[in-house]
Amino acid sequence: MDMVIFMAIRNIVKFGDPILKKVCRSVVNFDDRLGILLDDMAETMHNAEGVGLAAPQVGMLKRICIVDIGDENGVIELINPIIIERKGHQEEGEGCLSLPGEYGVTSRPMSVTVRANNRKGEVFTVSGEGLKARAFCHEIDHLDGILYKDRLAKKGK
Ligand code: CO
Repeated sequence: MDMVIFMAIRNIVKFGDPILKKVCRSVVNFDDRLGILLDDMAETMHNAEGVGLAAPQVGMLKRICIVDIGDENGVIELINPIIIERKGHQEEGEGCLSLPGEYGVTSRPMSVTVRANNRKGEVFTVSGEGLKARAFCHEIDHLDGILYKDRLAKKGK
């Protein structure tokens, strides 16, 4: 067989690694390497059964994150994302692939609208509410070195 698998599962950085506290840099090159990183991140997230993953969690200090809550939209790729609108409020349980086995109740907006670049560098906006809004907020927080533990509404377990 000459089949070549291009996607790869990357190691997920765990809590305590200083990389998770760093502010990531904007993406300026929308090249093939970006596509490979995004594909690898999706593979890594799905393998870990997560609903989101941010580039610093695979050791890359770049403003890139992905979200897939299992709906018809599939994997949403957010590059240089900015939350441009927040509405409402929710307090729900939240976890993180970098803190396996833990969770906490966080305070988040009920819905958000995000503006970002896609992998070609084009600007788009995407909205989400409920779980999707939490996932957007959680992953975008990672790009500024913020973990869900910094957003706790009350004590988890
Ligand atoms: Co996380």
